[in-house]
Amino acid sequence: MDDMGIDVVLLGYGAIGQAVHRMLGAHDGEVRVLGVLDRASLADPDPAARTARTTGPDGPGSGPRVPVLDLATAIERADLVIECASPVAVRAHGPAITGAGTDLLVASLGALADGRLRAALEAGPGRCHYSTGAIGGLDLIRASAGTINAIELHTRKLPAALLHPGLPGTLRSAITRVAESGTAAPVFSGSVADAVRDFPSNINVAAALGLAAGDLDLVAVDIIADPAAAMTRHEITVRGDGGNYRFGIENFPDPANPATSALTARSMVSGVLRLAGRGPHFI
Ligand SMILES: NC(=O)c1ccc[n+]([C@@H]2O[C@H](COP(=O)([O-])OP(=O)(O)OC[C@H]3O[C@@H](n4cnc5c(N)ncnc54)[C@H](O)[C@@H]3O)[C@@H](O)[C@H]2O)c1
Repeated sequence: MDDMGIDVVLLGYGAIGQAVHRMLGAHDGEVRVLGVLDRASLADPDPAARTARTTGPDGPGSGPRVPVLDLATAIERADLVIECASPVAVRAHGPAITGAGTDLLVASLGALADGRLRAALEAGPGRCHYSTGAIGGLDLIRASAGTINAIELHTRKLPAALLHPGLPGTLRSAITRVAESGTAAPVFSGSVADAVRDFPSNINVAAALGLAAGDLDLVAVDIIADPAAAMTRHEITVRGDGGNYRFGIENFPDPANPATSALTARSMVSGVLRLAGRGPHFI
């Protein structure tokens, strides 16, 4: 980081990565997008092949284009790597990023339900920032950490936003039945650890609440599959010694990925601008 802003690299270039890239284009005096890490660039052993490629939002020929980088170059050049890929990517690359002194902003907070990974990321010397992602109120929950007795999260999503290739068979059948019946029904009830196991990329909000509260075990998660849900709804109830709090958040799904709320990319851009020094700062 210098007086002229920060240099960032995007780890993951799907719905969120492309939206973040597009939005940061309006702030290039404060935040420069140096490039993108994608699956191929992380796997390809030939750096020349990687730097010869460029990518941009919405396919070839439209939007700002940037180089596809290898991990070593990204870590060396960036002040901040913006993760918007998957929990697997956080596990695979996060410790190398913060370990080399580069900061990391994580969207896939479900990965941090693993305490050992969390400790590795937070050992630094790079800082690990957690995105507020698809919800708000995390400042209040963070401020109340140590006084909270219980948090309930009721999430209502389209069945298609819950289905993913690794889903256990019983859950897949239950969600598919709901989709076919056309009637909303509960499909999951459990802890953050259970939710992250069954829906690793779909319920980052549950991990965000537990991380903010300082104890993942305080959070009870219910998921309702709703074929009529035009919006993803999170109802959050916090009970504590200092007070009781309720948040209701309704997000339009991102048109590029119904499993992601359009708010998530905006939250990441807002966080990056804050790291670049742009106020107003609510702290
Ligand atoms: N915190 C939140 O509230 C919140 C909300 C929505 C999504 N998320 C997280 O953000 C992630 C990205 O969401 P999206 O809608 O952009 O998904 P997406 O599927 O549209 O795009 C993901 C991109 O990351 C890449 N990727 C995935 N795993 C990778 C790996 N191991 N190494 C390198 N690249 C990899 C994919 O190839 C793809 O380009 C989700 O997986 C989820 O974990 C968090």
